[in-house]
Amino acid sequence: MKNALENIKNEAIEALSKSEDLKALEDLKVKYLGKKGELTAILKQMGKLSAEERPIIGQLANEVRSKIEAKLAESQEALKKKVLEKQLKAEKLDVTVPGQTFEIGKKHPLTIVMDEIKEIFLGMGFDVVSGPEVELDYYNFEALNLPPDHPARDTQDTFYITQNTLLRTQTSPVQIRTMEERKPPIRIISPGRVYRSDALDATHSPVFHQIEGLVVDRNITMSDLKGTLEMFIKSLYGEDSQIRFRPHHFPFTEPSAEIDVMCFNCHGEGCKLCKGEGWIEILGAGMVHPKVLTNCGIDPEEYSGFAFGLGLERIVMRRFSIDDIRMFFENDMRFLNQF
Ligand code: PHE
Repeated sequence: MKNALENIKNEAIEALSKSEDLKALEDLKVKYLGKKGELTAILKQMGKLSAEERPIIGQLANEVRSKIEAKLAESQEALKKKVLEKQLKAEKLDVTVPGQTFEIGKKHPLTIVMDEIKEIFLGMGFDVVSGPEVELDYYNFEALNLPPDHPARDTQDTFYITQNTLLRTQTSPVQIRTMEERKPPIRIISPGRVYRSDALDATHSPVFHQIEGLVVDRNITMSDLKGTLEMFIKSLYGEDSQIRFRPHHFPFTEPSAEIDVMCFNCHGEGCKLCKGEGWIEILGAGMVHPKVLTNCGIDPEEYSGFAFGLGLERIVMRRFSIDDIRMFFENDMRFLNQF
């Protein structure tokens, strides 16, 4: 029995010093010191010993147990230290490494100018309203006095969804929706996307932006239209900018005009920017057609109004010297980061 105890001690101490991880140590603890362990097995046989032998073996067994326990504690300590050191090395933090920067988003160039234009009109007492991009034929064409054979109604120019619904080709349907909902005095602008079945090239895109304007009240005249647009253009392009009206035709305004702004590059001389014209067309406008007022339940004998529609892309392209409309929609970060 003495030998058996000695053997257990030596074996256990050897195994404990070789063991490489905490789990293995735990297993050894169970193997030697556990309830079903080797030491316990020997102690269970103590009953067979004589009265003289029992205290001697008992003492020896206690010594063996405390030796093994001490070795176990020592090995555990050493291993824990090793693990910690390894962890510290692996998780070393270099506090001098530069931090990660978060990229902050920017406004799209179209949004920059759109916001500016909204501000100008808000300052003149206009409301900003919006309308649906998927629109009924009635609002996009019929109520705007566009006759059934009008070229804009052709499938070559318009994206139809069903016979009755389409992607709006202009923001003018918001005129109708507004006049149906509000009583004069009305003073609104309505910015938004419009769609036309155009092939994509440097100056055409099947989706682009317009800003519609509508004013309806008693005694509104062409001079109110002129004053409003002059004020707007001077706010946008500076005090010395000039506009001119050219006669034009729109089915929903009478009389109608196209409005040009004097080329700020050559001041009317003619240059590359304005294609030699000296003037650049930016707006369609006119006095709201009496038939359109009637369609919306507004009496043209009592009220009159003006409306205008301007194309945003052209204005933004000129502002930032962008020569290809496709840049707006490609979302190339090299382009977007310049604004
Ligand atoms: N909707 C017209 C267009 O897209 C512009 C316009 C709006 C003209 C309002 C007159 C009045 O060309």
